[in-house]
Amino acid sequence: MQEFSTLTTARLSLRRLRPADLARFAAYRADPELARYQGWSALSMAEAADFIAGMHAAPAFVEEAWLQLAIAQRPGDELVGDIGLCLHAGGVAEIGFTLMREAQGRGLATEALRALIEMLFARPEVRALIAITDARNHASMRLLERLGLRLVHSEAALFKGEACTEHHYRLERAHGLAVKSVP
Ligand SMILES: CC(C)(COP(=O)(O)OP(=O)(O)OC[C@H]1O[C@@H](n2cnc3c(N)ncnc32)[C@H](O)[C@@H]1OP(=O)(O)O)[C@@H](O)C(=O)NCCC(=O)NCCS
Repeated sequence: MQEFSTLTTARLSLRRLRPADLARFAAYRADPELARYQGWSALSMAEAADFIAGMHAAPAFVEEAWLQLAIAQRPGDELVGDIGLCLHAGGVAEIGFTLMREAQGRGLATEALRALIEMLFARPEVRALIAITDARNHASMRLLERLGLRLVHSEAALFKGEACTEHHYRLERAHGLAVKSVP
């Protein structure tokens, strides 16, 4: 089984979810504003505990299997969000991401994703990164563009019963990661 080795940045650890994350995880996953453009909705405490236990033990880097990783703030190691990662056939890695509201607006998602993308592009099998976001999700689009992903395709979709447009973003390994400076 391939392990996921914790990634450390100036302010964060990107690590496996663990049982001690339960209260914070269940709290922000119950925030309807965070769920607005996400495929998930609020979980009961028991469901959240099961989800964390599953992700704590799940093998990493298994094709077509989503792995949800914790974004934790250092030095206290408190959970502030999570990143979903899935490797598709052909070396295409897909990401999804959430930060609790209190942690937003400080570049933490940019910092976490930058570390993750660097790690992914260091793996020989990963040749591109993709993310799909609702066209109304401006914070998500700004984040992806800041990291150097480009809008490559848009399509009409039905999401949570509502017609919407899905934007597909992509970054080729050959083009490299670019974190644009923040004014
Ligand atoms: C998408 C999401 C993670 C983005 O969070 P975020 O806080 O905007 O992203 P960052 O943590 O990288 O912070 C960037 C913001 O902080 C500001 N910032 C401050 N210091 C910064 C720094 N050192 N580096 C980068 N940005 C910094 C940036 O200007 C930017 O603000 P702006 O977008 O208003 O210009 C968040 O909105 C979220 O969790 N949304 C709900 C879940 C969701 O929809 N996920 C996407 C599904 S596809």
